[in-house]
Amino acid sequence: MITYDLIGQTPLVLLESFSDEHVQIYAKLEQFNPGGSIKDRLGKYLVETALKEKRIVKGDTIVEATAGNTGIGLAMAANRYHLKCVIFAPEGFSEEKISIMRVLGAEIKRTPKNKGMIGAQKEARHYADKYDAVYMNQFETEHNPEAYTHTLGKEITEALPHIDYFVAGAGSGGTFTGVAKHLQQFNVKNIIVEPEGSVLNGGKAHAHDIEGIGSEKWPVFLEKSIVDDIITVSDNQGFENVKRLAKQEGLLVGSSSGAALQGALDIKRRIDKGIIVTIFPDGSDRYMSKKIFEYKGE
Ligand SMILES: Cc1ncc(COP(=O)(O)O)c(C=O)c1O
Repeated sequence: MITYDLIGQTPLVLLESFSDEHVQIYAKLEQFNPGGSIKDRLGKYLVETALKEKRIVKGDTIVEATAGNTGIGLAMAANRYHLKCVIFAPEGFSEEKISIMRVLGAEIKRTPKNKGMIGAQKEARHYADKYDAVYMNQFETEHNPEAYTHTLGKEITEALPHIDYFVAGAGSGGTFTGVAKHLQQFNVKNIIVEPEGSVLNGGKAHAHDIEGIGSEKWPVFLEKSIVDDIITVSDNQGFENVKRLAKQEGLLVGSSSGAALQGALDIKRRIDKGIIVTIFPDGSDRYMSKKIFEYKGE
């Protein structure tokens, strides 16, 4: 086995202190991927697919816009397959992710915070055109959800014989779409979690502190028919849950995991009996510079 083979097959744990005899909440711990997040799966899949389709060959440059986790996954895959990796990352996200991408050898270009992720995407696309690099385009490619359908989705149904609800945060929407598509055949209800300031529930786009989820527009590959509900979570709820998960479960997770737990708890309140599965995309260690455990709101 090599490090790269550690991507996927992450632990699925029962959140004991948040479950009872009637309703159980399970969480898939994606921080156990070698790059520390769910996006290792995406980096591996996007690069291997592009190689297979001959859109890239050894020595080429791949480009992406990302807050960091996708960049880490791509940088790892780029190293494995001898590619160069250029990342456009908006200012304002955690600096730990930037440091990790740099040490993995990626070239980082910062874009203005007020231009958001859409601004970073524009610059990444422009760079790819100008320098004959290959834009990975996680926000639009069907390969993004595909990366999860046969890995994460399958791992969940192999681990649990029955699931009633799947609850997951959406940024690009790839995780949710990919897993929900797999779970449809098992009659699972699929619920999106988004932070306040994300537009999926019809709200206006604005800044939020929960990092990694939230969309400025409806993802192109997210079919409305697979969404059973959308739960909007406040920054305070997300960060409060990060602290509860540390104290009650010994789980050190990022704020998008705190938000996902809030979604699962909202579903738990609505039902008498059932199994809920959620995803914890990354760990709290990469948000220490943002004082994740001392969050007081702004
Ligand atoms: C910490 C974290 N949580 C959740 C997500 C959302 O995943 P997706 O883009 O698949 O919707 C991301 C995406 O970057 C992330 O970095």
